[in-house]
Amino acid sequence: MHLGVNIDHVATLRQARYATMLDSHNTEPSVLEAAYAAMKGGADSITLHVREDRRHMQDDDARTVRREIPLPLNLEMGATQAMLEFALSLKPDYVCLVPERREEITTEGGLSVAGHEAELQPLVAALQANGSKVSMFIDPEPEQVKASAAIGAAMIELHTGRFANTLGEERKAETARLVAAATLGHELGLEVHAGHGIQIANLAELNEVPYLTELNIGHTLISRAIFTGLTSAVQEMKSAIESYKW
Ligand code: PXP
Repeated sequence: MHLGVNIDHVATLRQARYATMLDSHNTEPSVLEAAYAAMKGGADSITLHVREDRRHMQDDDARTVRREIPLPLNLEMGATQAMLEFALSLKPDYVCLVPERREEITTEGGLSVAGHEAELQPLVAALQANGSKVSMFIDPEPEQVKASAAIGAAMIELHTGRFANTLGEERKAETARLVAAATLGHELGLEVHAGHGIQIANLAELNEVPYLTELNIGHTLISRAIFTGLTSAVQEMKSAIESYKW
């Protein structure tokens, strides 16, 4: 099981103080240093979300990490023409297409692929022809999985937000939806990833979901890093996800 480490919140912290003075000699914390620390802890890839409103990661962050870090780079982005152009010049190893609403605190729902195939298919084709494997960040719904396969995406990332935010019967039901979506994705030849709200505390239940090859994890790692440092937080997560049995 691969671990993709999302370091967006390192930029969130930097922007909280230095958004208007990024070139200052004082500016911290460093996104590049965070990427190195994650790599040292065993990250298999680095994930950055360059949002349309640039609220955390900036274009230069993505370019610097791309240039300096010898790990696969996963760029999360909205499905827009402007972001397509940015991704075509950045040439990340992976692009994960996500929905974006300015007012949301984080990515709140999966992308509606079903019903938007005609707009999304050319974007996916352009990115993959440029060398970036594309993943669709979707809710665990059969029609979204089928639509992702139909437009030629190589991968899906199943949104585990509802799984993470519920308990008891609701979580059981959501786990069942994830199991079904992962199974269908695998049958359709898609690489299946998962992300959002994953923590060491919910890994045991997530382990019921088959065919996952990568987890994308951010918030809990940056939170833990406040107390242990990022390298150690990533090491802990890497050893925790070794329990995945599929
Ligand atoms: N995957 C995607 C597509 C996301 O948008 C996010 C959140 O930025 C994550 C994974 C990571 O979620 P979390 O920060 O809750 O671990």
